[in-house]
Amino acid sequence: MATAFVNVPCNVGAIKGLESQNYVGLKPSLNQQFYCLMPKIKARPRRVFVIRASERRSESIPKMGLTDEECEAAVVAGNVPEAPPVSPKPAAPAGTPVVPSLPLNRRPRRNRKSPAMRASFQETNLSPANFVYPLFIHEGEEDTPIGAMPGCYRLGWRHGLVEEVAKARDVGVNSVVLFPKVPDALKSPTGDEAYNDNGLVPRTIRLLKDKFPDLVIYTDVALDPYSSDGHDGIVREDGVIMNDETVHQLCKQAVSQARAGADVVSPSDMMDGRVGAIRAALDAEGFQHVSIMSYTAKYASSFYGPFREALDSNPRFGDKKTYQMNPANYREALVEAHEDESEGADILLVKPGLPYLDIIRLLRDRSPLPIAAYQVSGEYSMIKAGSVLKMIDEERVMMESLMCLRRAGADIILTYFALQAARILCGENR
Ligand code: PBG
Repeated sequence: MATAFVNVPCNVGAIKGLESQNYVGLKPSLNQQFYCLMPKIKARPRRVFVIRASERRSESIPKMGLTDEECEAAVVAGNVPEAPPVSPKPAAPAGTPVVPSLPLNRRPRRNRKSPAMRASFQETNLSPANFVYPLFIHEGEEDTPIGAMPGCYRLGWRHGLVEEVAKARDVGVNSVVLFPKVPDALKSPTGDEAYNDNGLVPRTIRLLKDKFPDLVIYTDVALDPYSSDGHDGIVREDGVIMNDETVHQLCKQAVSQARAGADVVSPSDMMDGRVGAIRAALDAEGFQHVSIMSYTAKYASSFYGPFREALDSNPRFGDKKTYQMNPANYREALVEAHEDESEGADILLVKPGLPYLDIIRLLRDRSPLPIAAYQVSGEYSMIKAGSVLKMIDEERVMMESLMCLRRAGADIILTYFALQAARILCGENR
């Protein structure tokens, strides 16, 4: 954090500004690319940071015209020039009890006593580069608001989406993950639309790569948007979700996305063995460079409700408990992590985010791979709803929740707040 200070203008205004943003932990001086995206903040030459007691720096002391040697001689001779006295100890309110000070040799509050010191000792930082922006797309021309997710839309893939991506890039968010709303007529029990090279997702990837070649595109690999049963896999007559047959479909889906230009394919289906199979399928088609972000610990969570409304992807029957993990389980996340690591995953993801911070920390401590956290739709909507009801401060709760996901060990965060939070990080409150 100290570096962040060096480049801000050295006046009290800057300190005040920092106070209001100190949860942010920007490191602008270290990230040139990030700078280019923030025309409003310009790099300034290195300066020494001086904290002044008053904002006025007017009464400058007249010079005596002495040389350095004369100044030193004066001090040696006892003619010490005057400097302002130490300010008097501030008074306590009347009635404050007079007590002996506690005999403490450690007072942790010392390191929290000023905005500048708090900023110096901040352990975790948040940057737009940490965000992956999940975007809902559909075939339409208009952007349709999603009732359960205020501020989110099903974006028209040719217009609204492109505008939204441009806005995100303006504030340093250069990674997106796409979720399609597929017409019912294209859904089937085996979800074959998932690997239609001219389907909504591959078409959208091609358009985005054409407009923004350096955009990092993550895709979702799972059958639920394409399944007439609303499940992530193929459902047998007796309701069993078929594992290996589903993995076969997922491989085709991942390859189709890679062919369109996806950078990172992200299996969110929780079938066994899908990471290794997808890796092999990608490699066999020449997509060695395409990464896999595995939803390693994806829990059977009720926090996904608003998302399923957004995509109209609720399971037609039953639940997802035979493939998604039991929210009561901790050690089981390690079983999944070991498999995903050995099968060649590049990134391990934990989902949901805030209620599962212990799992994020567990994987962070046990794996050298990058960890992703997904702040899911229910988490987003709760913050929005609390804010509409004026029960919480939306912006502060949003920034705190994102910082906490980072503190728990997430390198990247998939969040519907990506654009809103990045604007704040860039000092643009629009
Ligand atoms: C399904 C998928 C889900 C989410 C992302 N991919 C929902 C589910 O498992 O039913 C949820 C994301 C969110 O709630 O924000 N493959």
